[in-house]
Amino acid sequence: MDNERDLGLKARSILLDNDRGDYTVPTADLYPFQWNWDSAFVALGWAEFDNDRAWREIEVLFDAQWPSGMVPHIVFWTDAATYFPGPDVWQAGQSPASSGISQPPVVATIVRHLASTDPERAAALIKPLDQWHQWWHSARDAYDLGVIAIAHPWESGRDNLPDWDPALAGLDTSRVGTYQRRDTDLVDAGMRPHKADYDRYLALVQFGVDNRWDDELIGRNNPFLVADPAISAVLLRAERDLAALMHDNGLDTGPVEARIARLAEGYERFWNPDVGAYCAFDVRSGVHADAATSASFLAPYGGVTNHLDETVDLLRAWAEKTRFLVPSFDPRDDRYEPDRYWRGPIWAVVNYMIATGLADQGAGDWAERIRISTRDLIATGGFAESFNPEVGSGTGGKSFSWTAAMWLSWAGANAA
Ligand code: DGY
Repeated sequence: MDNERDLGLKARSILLDNDRGDYTVPTADLYPFQWNWDSAFVALGWAEFDNDRAWREIEVLFDAQWPSGMVPHIVFWTDAATYFPGPDVWQAGQSPASSGISQPPVVATIVRHLASTDPERAAALIKPLDQWHQWWHSARDAYDLGVIAIAHPWESGRDNLPDWDPALAGLDTSRVGTYQRRDTDLVDAGMRPHKADYDRYLALVQFGVDNRWDDELIGRNNPFLVADPAISAVLLRAERDLAALMHDNGLDTGPVEARIARLAEGYERFWNPDVGAYCAFDVRSGVHADAATSASFLAPYGGVTNHLDETVDLLRAWAEKTRFLVPSFDPRDDRYEPDRYWRGPIWAVVNYMIATGLADQGAGDWAERIRISTRDLIATGGFAESFNPEVGSGTGGKSFSWTAAMWLSWAGANAA
């Protein structure tokens, strides 16, 4: 096992290798462009040794903001033959080329974290962040429930979670045709979504293209519209951090406070008494997912504490089941797969958010346990995309930027 100093050096070298000037690719080949929430977490890693570079990572993401306020999940700054689906499939009609959907809005929280290092750069991001946050409310809560619904599993960042299966099952894939995936050339197919999932992902992209990525049409008519407890918690925290940034800059926080109140109230809609956890639900049918996921532990991160005791009890039950915390899906469920992407593996950035929320809300012992677990996973499995919860082996892509960033800013012992 590498010692901690070596791991710190390795983490830095991963960021430097994956650096493309103003943005950092999540990992070479598999994800060869800028990804939205990857960049946000990666900025925390850069901030440990190159503060200017941390700010540029975020600023350049906003160079791709749409006139609607949406900040896309992928920005295609260059061509890359190793990735599918590229800009020709998305047909987003924007410059720079991008995907047509967004990703969990962690940026405001990261900007607040970095603000003391450069208050002027933080202040310059307030307006674009505010526009993006407003976009979530108007475009992804069209039914005014006080929850954020995703229009595509990729928008959640947790692509093949079992939560999305029921809503995906009914999709018409008859127009998808043939295509060649690139991800399974680069990563073991047993660690990636199935072809049937991919067909459905592409059918949803086609729906967006057919509707010219019109927010109104997608927000109301999209064939997939599932309220996501992770995005809602992430946005709740991001709104609180945006309000703090506005306050520090003498700006009116009234509209943001109103949005926070809506989300905080709406969050209880995620509570599924049958499972005893916060669960996703289909916006149109109101039916909840029938199992807990790592997102079920994110309410404290959003400042929601109504079911804190039950949440910690659930974490304790999971901890009895797997050696490492926190699996992306309930390890007691038949659908749990410890190596397949978001159906079991552990993700360092999700652990970071869960631990941060638990520490904020007085469960510091569990927060520390999750940090130690993340540290041990990286020491065991390397700087992988994600990790097997039972043996700690790396799953998915290798030399992953956000895992390196999490080591540098949080999980590595020296950062404790
Ligand atoms: C992929 O290509 O698998 C990504 O998760 C999409 O963002």
